[in-house]
Formats: sequence, C-alpha cells, structure tokens
Amino acid sequence: MGRSDCVVLYNAASIVEIEGSEERTYPSTVLREEVIAVEESLREAGFSPYVLSVEHFSRELIQTLAKLAPRFVFNLCEAINGKCEFEMCVAGLLDLMKIPYTGSGPMALGLGLDKFRVKKLFQASGIPAARGYLLAPGKKLSARRPRFPVIVKPVHEDASLGINSNSVCHTWAQLEKQVGYVHSVYLQEALVEEYLDGREFNVSIIGDGDPEVLAISEIDFSGMPEGEPRIVSYRAKWDEESPMYRCTTPMCPADIPRRLENRIRDIALRSYRCVGCRDYGRVDMRADARGALYVLEVNPNPDIAPNAGFARAAGAAGYTYTKIISKIAQFALERGAKVASTVYAL
Ligand SMILES: Nc1ncnc2c1ncn2[C@@H]1O[C@H](COP(=O)(O)OP(=O)(O)O)[C@@H](O)[C@H]1O
Ligand SMILES: [Mg+2]
Repeated sequence: MGRSDCVVLYNAASIVEIEGSEERTYPSTVLREEVIAVEESLREAGFSPYVLSVEHFSRELIQTLAKLAPRFVFNLCEAINGKCEFEMCVAGLLDLMKIPYTGSGPMALGLGLDKFRVKKLFQASGIPAARGYLLAPGKKLSARRPRFPVIVKPVHEDASLGINSNSVCHTWAQLEKQVGYVHSVYLQEALVEEYLDGREFNVSIIGDGDPEVLAISEIDFSGMPEGEPRIVSYRAKWDEESPMYRCTTPMCPADIPRRLENRIRDIALRSYRCVGCRDYGRVDMRADARGALYVLEVNPNPDIAPNAGFARAAGAAGYTYTKIISKIAQFALERGAKVASTVYAL
C-alpha cells in the first residue's frame, strides 16, 4: 500500500432503481470503465496508482487516505452515501486533509448540480443562458404561463436523468403532467426552460489558471424519428438499442464557420471561469431557431471515460488518452507543490 504515489478515488455507480422513473439508473459499467482507463493511463505515465472505492463516508476512508498519503488523488467520485449532492463533500474532505486532487473544488462541483443558480450567476455576468424558472413540489403552476414550447428538467440532476420524450411540452396539460413527473419521481424542483430549437454544442475545456478549449462537438440529430424531440434524452445518451441513441451522434470537431466557433469558445471559457471550474470541464450550449447561443449547463468533472465526449474532444485536439490524463494529474501535482507543508488529518 505504501508504494502507491497516487489514489484513483471513485464510487461504484448506484444500481438502485428510481421508483416510477422512465429512465433507468446510471449504467453501472460506465463509471468502472472510466476508473480502469484512468488507472491504466496513470501507470503508463509512470505513476503507481492505488484504486480506492468509496461508497459511504467513514472513519476508515480518512484513515486509509492518511495512511496512503498520496501525492495526489485522481478524483472520480460522483456521489457518496448514494447522493450526488455530496460529490462536493469528497472534494472538501480532500481539501481539509490537504491532499491535492484533480478536477474542480467543492464550490464548482456544487454549482454544477444546481442549474438554476448557475443561470442566475450567468445572467448577472452577462453570459447568455437559456431563460427559465423553477417550480417547487406542491406549488401550483397557476400564474406563470410560459411561451410554448418549453422543456422540463429536474434542477439537480445530470446525465439526462429525468429527460425523456415528454420533456418538451407544447401545451399546458403536457407541462402540468411533466412537472408532476419531476416532482413525484425526482423529488425536487422542476426547471421549466424555453425550448431552444437550434444546433447543440458540447465544448470540452482543459486547464487550471489559463483554460483552453480542446474541441467543439456538435450533436447530429438527423434521422430522429417523427414526433421525437431533438434532444439528448436519457435514452439517447445511454440506451444503445434505442433509435434516439443512433440519432444523436456527436460530431467532433464540429463543422462550423470561424465566427461561430469563436463565439462558442468565448461563451464556453467565460462559463467555465464563472463557475470556477478547474482542470477539466464541459459546457453544453444550444442555439435558438435564429442562431443565438445560450448555455444549458456547465459540467465540472465530466465523464472522462475513453469513449465519452471529453476524451473524444481531447483526441480531436491531438492528445492521446494517456497524455490528457497525465496532464490533468499534473495540474493536481502543481497545486500540491504550492502547499508548503502537507498536514494530514491523522
Ligand atoms: N432549453 C433547452 N432547449 C432545448 N433542449 C434542451 C434544453 N435544455 C436541455 N435540452 C436538451 O436536454 C439535454 C440534457 O439537458 P442538460 O441541461 O444538458 O442536462 P444534463 O445535465 O442532464 O445533461 C441537452 O443535451 C439538450 O439536448
Ligand atoms: Mg448536459
């Protein structure tokens, strides 16, 4: 155990079904692939990683980390105690233990799970964000009649959880039903957003102090079955058997004119900085029917599996997978070097 110089910290994905959900849970294999790939790349880059799974917070977790005393942790934890809202606490724990780690700190991770708060932040910062409002469980829809169509999403989820074929609503009755679905199944506020009927881009960014865009990816919605909304729903993201999966192909790098590319890069970098992202992240944005761009969300610590969007963008920018993983590790090591003396909790 003592010979490891870094720890790959992860949580095995939850396989608990969400009762009443049309979306299945996050595929358990996905996170595992990411862990193995990161471990192998770190080895290839000359590190000796120790892979540590964390499901629940415990005294043992602190003791093990203290005993291992790694030079850095590669943080792949997306949840602890079964809750993604505690993702930020793992980063906070590492901060308290003065163990350098990859990826964003607690503040950015917390913001990443609050789409509405980020929207407010963006509005105050002059970053174009999709307009929307929140509806809390138990509150009547009443006064707020939106301009249809709108999209309804749970405000604190990611990975397209809670987003399905009924999420885009054209009528009051559809909206009422879908808001009820989010409230009763996801037990949280529903975010009602103007539906942006244009192109969709995912922008992968790398960097700590001076972030850079790796590449811009565009979702190709062509071939989407008649009547299906052109969105990346849960099934489109995860269910390889579904027609929606086949009709939401990412194209990276996107084929876009220079002016549009510059605009996308500028908005993405401002969003990354505004949320306080660190090391790596992905900004999702969409255009309206007239081509105006709006940010949908910022993903600090996005999926970094070799077949996920971030790694694809890194490839398009000329990085091998190992190179990008060791570059991210390097950011953590550099931050560690700035901490004069390392003090552990035990
Ligand atoms: N305002 C919107 N207009 C059009 N499509 C949207 C809008 N918001 C979300 N979507 C669609 O839903 C998908 C998931 O939404 P997003 O906000 O990125 O949440 P997640 O965290 O689940 O990825 C997007 O990739 C996009 O296809
Ligand atoms: Mg998204």
